[in-house]
Amino acid sequence: MGYKLEGSVAVVTGAGRGIGKAVALGLAKKKVKVVIADLLLAEAERVVKEIEEMGGEALAVKVDVSREEDVKAMAEKVLEKFGRVDIVVNNAAICPISPLEDTPAEEWDRVLAVNIKGPYLVIKTLLPAMKKQGGGRIVNMASVAGKMGAMVAGLHYTASKAGIIAMGKVLARHCAPYGITVNTVAPGPTATEMTADWTEEEMARLTQNIPLGRYGTMEEIAAGVLYLVSEEASFVTGECLDINGGLWMD
Ligand SMILES: NC(=O)c1ccc[n+]([C@@H]2O[C@H](COP(=O)([O-])OP(=O)(O)OC[C@H]3O[C@@H](n4cnc5c(N)ncnc54)[C@H](O)[C@@H]3O)[C@@H](O)[C@H]2O)c1
Repeated sequence: MGYKLEGSVAVVTGAGRGIGKAVALGLAKKKVKVVIADLLLAEAERVVKEIEEMGGEALAVKVDVSREEDVKAMAEKVLEKFGRVDIVVNNAAICPISPLEDTPAEEWDRVLAVNIKGPYLVIKTLLPAMKKQGGGRIVNMASVAGKMGAMVAGLHYTASKAGIIAMGKVLARHCAPYGITVNTVAPGPTATEMTADWTEEEMARLTQNIPLGRYGTMEEIAAGVLYLVSEEASFVTGECLDINGGLWMD
């Protein structure tokens, strides 16, 4: 009944592009069947095609992780297609950069709904299947913002990512008796569409504080997730892995 990466089934939210896509491709290279769960179905389908062209197996599912009915429908599709779930990567998130005084309360609610309620709903819905299997891996995507406070992103985003880091510790204790590890990855600034419209000035504000002097790549962040879902990480749980070029050290 031990956990084995090859041949396992992973659900990666927000895998239609960016870091989530890099995680999905990395998993597919390790012969993991990957569910590309994203609000953007066309993007998710493109990733599935890429994986199939590599000889892998994948499924695109349109889901808004903040909606319980969507998450339940996704779980049904995954279990119908693959019959199991071994890995969950809660990567989907949004990051508006509105200054506090200009942040509408609706935007606050939406950020918390996607970034915090989403992972809660996905884990709650998929955990029963994972428990039955007697082992698995959960990785939640936080941000350096959740540790040091965002320098560009909004207050809501910082609150959501600090929440994800704290949730990881409770989840790690909760899931340990079932052989399921729960870890967090906290990336620093990474070149994706999320940061594509940041101004030169905003980018400079961050880069000058990064000892390695640059943004990370999606693959560098994905590498951390791939370690945490590996068999080698079997004794790692409740950890928050910083991948940030030295921007924040603790
Ligand atoms: N890019 C960075 O600098 C950076 C830094 C720290 C942390 N992160 C975190 O890494 C993760 C991935 O970020 P990215 O940079 O690849 O972002 P991205 O915007 O490029 O990709 C996010 C993906 O999530 C999907 N998504 C958004 N809302 C969704 C919802 N409600 N339901 C389902 N899918 C949804 C989007 O469609 C998109 O495909 C996020 O959790 C983000 O907070 C990113």
